[in-house]
Amino acid sequence: MAGSGDAHLRPPTETLLRAEHLVVEFPVGRSGAKVHAVSDISLDVRPGETLGLVGESGCGKSTTGKAIMQLPRPTSGAVLFDDEDLTELSGSDLRKVRPDLQMIFQDPISSLNPRRRVGDIVAEPLRIWASEQHPPGPTIGLATRLMHLAALIAFAGAALVVTLWLLGAVLPYLANNESFGLSGAWEAIGPTGGTLMMWGLVAGPLMWGAGNLVRDRVPTARRALIGLAVVQGVLALIGATGAGTPLSVVAWAIGAVAAVAALVCTVVPAGRNDFAAMAEVRVEHDRIVRRVLSDVGLDPDSAMPRRPHEFSGGQCQRICIARALVLDPKVIICDEPVSALDVSVQAQILNLLQDMKARYNLTLVFIAHDLAVVKNVSDRVAVMYLGKVCEVADPDDLYAHPAHPYSAALLRSIPVPDPTVSQSGATLSGELPSPVDPPSGCRFRTRCPKAQDLCAAEEPTLRAVGENHYVACHFPNEA
Ligand SMILES: Nc1ncnc2c1ncn2[C@@H]1O[C@H](COP(=O)(O)OP(=O)(O)O)[C@@H](O)[C@H]1O
Ligand code: SF4
Ligand SMILES: [Mg+2]
Repeated sequence: MAGSGDAHLRPPTETLLRAEHLVVEFPVGRSGAKVHAVSDISLDVRPGETLGLVGESGCGKSTTGKAIMQLPRPTSGAVLFDDEDLTELSGSDLRKVRPDLQMIFQDPISSLNPRRRVGDIVAEPLRIWASEQHPPGPTIGLATRLMHLAALIAFAGAALVVTLWLLGAVLPYLANNESFGLSGAWEAIGPTGGTLMMWGLVAGPLMWGAGNLVRDRVPTARRALIGLAVVQGVLALIGATGAGTPLSVVAWAIGAVAAVAALVCTVVPAGRNDFAAMAEVRVEHDRIVRRVLSDVGLDPDSAMPRRPHEFSGGQCQRICIARALVLDPKVIICDEPVSALDVSVQAQILNLLQDMKARYNLTLVFIAHDLAVVKNVSDRVAVMYLGKVCEVADPDDLYAHPAHPYSAALLRSIPVPDPTVSQSGATLSGELPSPVDPPSGCRFRTRCPKAQDLCAAEEPTLRAVGENHYVACHFPNEA
């Protein structure tokens, strides 16, 4: 396959991250056609290295980055990280690896939740990871399961009432062809059934949410539980739920479960200790969030209480970098992290990424469509075209002697900031062909000035044309 081959891969003992023969295809409509977004590409990165991944928009760079992260999983191929194949992992095994692999996206503003405060956004990965690292003890675990069970029963009761109501409406309609009688069936359900449904729909999710707060040992869980128990108890006591009706039984049951859970969290020593231990973890999280925010150049005191819309694009990208750093990852995949920013801010963010790489011992995969940006930050560059890798080389070598006609055309299309200098040589012409039906042989042949019959008949694979310089082309330029 064009751009396939793994001649450029280094020995597995030298690399931290390897993608081998990665394929990502997306189905299109019902015709059975597929978007061939990534077609048998292999990449590797050594510890501490920055791999630049360049190519035109739509060539499959982001899809490659996401496939490495298993978001979504590739159609086929392997992703080896620290000797583990991520494509073989699932569930908690995959979750354990996730903190080591983080991603920064192109549009910093839309990748931050506008309703949350920056302190919470940056702390969120820590909180999610804390529930893996510090699962609740048996006492809190039991209280959580009890609350989730009560929530499910309340919700199931509401679902039963809704089902009976709909059946009552639809069955006469089917049997006698009478009019579809939703209101008649509602009357048959009666006020108790109706109130029971409302109660289940409200109390079920409330109880589920409170259960999650207890599981995560959030301090507000205790107040929420006491409130829930008191409200349910008072409503049942004053007869608002109708003494002896199914509704009063549900109200008492939910109140009792909330009261038991409140006791477990506030009085039972095992529960109290679990909450206290988590409070210490949260203090540590706060310390880490503050440190990371100041490392990326933001003042924690002013940034943490604010929301993303109060920051500029560059500051939002700093927040995204902080969020990626907070779990102390080994690899960060930067998907066009500066493409959406002003040129002056681009330089600041690139410098910041370089600083963070040194400070946090990071390995980077740096995706960009701009070769000039990639040259400055990369130790090795892979050029992609229509789901394939067409050239891999050291940046200086690639920029001085591009061997693939596509790389050469990309380099010629970099604007020279000098009006007296004319852009020399042919730049890229034509559109990227459709990845649904890519050209046979070499995928670049429809735009290549050097294409010959062989290029349509046979797909070139990556082969060495110099030291650490690999190209997938039948007729490469002289290196
Ligand atoms: N979820 C998806 N469903 C269908 N096609 C997709 C999906 N994601 C990406 N593609 C297609 O895959 C190709 C590669 O996209 P992408 O990886 O985003 O390119 P790049 O990041 O290089 O601009 C494009 O043709 C795009 O339209
Ligand atoms: S010369 Fe042939 S193989 Fe090489 S890039 Fe052009 S079309 Fe592809
Ligand atoms: Mg992209």
